[in-house]
Amino acid sequence: MNRSVTKAVFPVAGMGTRFLPATKSIPKEILTLVDRPLIQYAIDEARAAGITEFIFVTSRGKSALEDYFDVAPELEMKLEQDGKASLLEVLRSTNMESGQIAYMRQHQPLGLGHAVWCARRLIGDEPFAVILPDDVIAGEVPCLQQMVEAYAETGGNMVAAMEVPQDKVSAYGVLDVAEDKGAVVKVQGMVEKPKPADAPSRLAVIGRYILTPNVLENLGRQRAGAGGEIQLTDAIAEEIIASGDVHGFRFRGQRFDCGSKAGFLQATLSFGLDRPELRDDLLEFIEDVVAARRAAQ
Ligand code: G1P
Repeated sequence: MNRSVTKAVFPVAGMGTRFLPATKSIPKEILTLVDRPLIQYAIDEARAAGITEFIFVTSRGKSALEDYFDVAPELEMKLEQDGKASLLEVLRSTNMESGQIAYMRQHQPLGLGHAVWCARRLIGDEPFAVILPDDVIAGEVPCLQQMVEAYAETGGNMVAAMEVPQDKVSAYGVLDVAEDKGAVVKVQGMVEKPKPADAPSRLAVIGRYILTPNVLENLGRQRAGAGGEIQLTDAIAEEIIASGDVHGFRFRGQRFDCGSKAGFLQATLSFGLDRPELRDDLLEFIEDVVAARRAAQ
């Protein structure tokens, strides 16, 4: 089986209701951490992992995403005239080559599995990655790149994984571990959003996947799972029985749940503190705020 992964699917059809009213007119993937939209972090991570074809599964109201990856000739001209070379470079780094990016509509919100299945014809018969832009992962080596390297050894299907507190497992797909080899974990079961008492472990699926085309076939049977939605987790779990070839991968890095306000704010602070030009002022501000709050208590 071919183990080079060049295509990635970005499911971006969700309505982002947790961020209303902001997401009334802006796709949540355009919400910004410091000065870069969430989706840009996902694209950069995919590029670092060797992805050359980017497949977006969108829905109504997401056209700002298409504009974002288009060229902006007026802006480029203005920056050029003003001699703003470094900003021009920043702007151009967001451009996509024609034909590198494709948009597919998910016409009904039937779940993450259904969204990925919508991209089946563009994926074809080869392994592919899935990136959920809500999960932003900071790490020295980008998460998907770590996975591509591990996958070169394992093949099969691989999901990013991370230990979460017991009382949080019901927000995730959770792995039943057959064999724990450290970073790589062989999986014997996967459950989507279990009750804490029913969870097979605390090892949760985080939004990075490398999958075989068989998963698309499983999704094609369109069985509804947790929450009445067609779940990607269930289609991957079917592969445990069919091929026995499903692995979890404990990545190195810090994951922010940017689908939640708390996670989004934490990511904003953390990425802000990583910027040399912002760090000192931001740190001073945080220290002052914390001291003032403590004093008021
Ligand atoms: C999705 C997946 C879930 C996974 C999670 C990671 O859930 O269905 O298996 O653990 O992403 O963020 P969602 O957050 O869309 O409810």
